[in-house]
Amino acid sequence: MPKITCINDYDGSRWELNVDSGCSVMEATVNNNVPGIVAECGGSCSCATCHVYVDESWLGKLEEATQEEKDLIEFLDGARSNSRLSCQVLLTDELDGLTLRIPESQE
Ligand code: FES
Repeated sequence: MPKITCINDYDGSRWELNVDSGCSVMEATVNNNVPGIVAECGGSCSCATCHVYVDESWLGKLEEATQEEKDLIEFLDGARSNSRLSCQVLLTDELDGLTLRIPESQE
């Protein structure tokens, strides 16, 4: 059961979540009432309102983003090199300790 840390990029609020392997970061945050993830499309990689910034030290441990995900991120005003759509990041035991930041707002 991986544990992840979510930090509000605006005010530094933190949430530490114990989540089931196999669920997405989006599902983990929404199911635990972490504010800031809208997830309008429910996880089908079409809305980009589940945007997060993954801690740089974890980027190489994630599955690479699909072209579809990259295309959506490209059009986000707040996009950074460590941007991911949280519905596309599936949690595994190997991601125990994953840390990410939630943007001030979702576009
Ligand atoms: S929930 Fe819509 S793209 Fe992630």
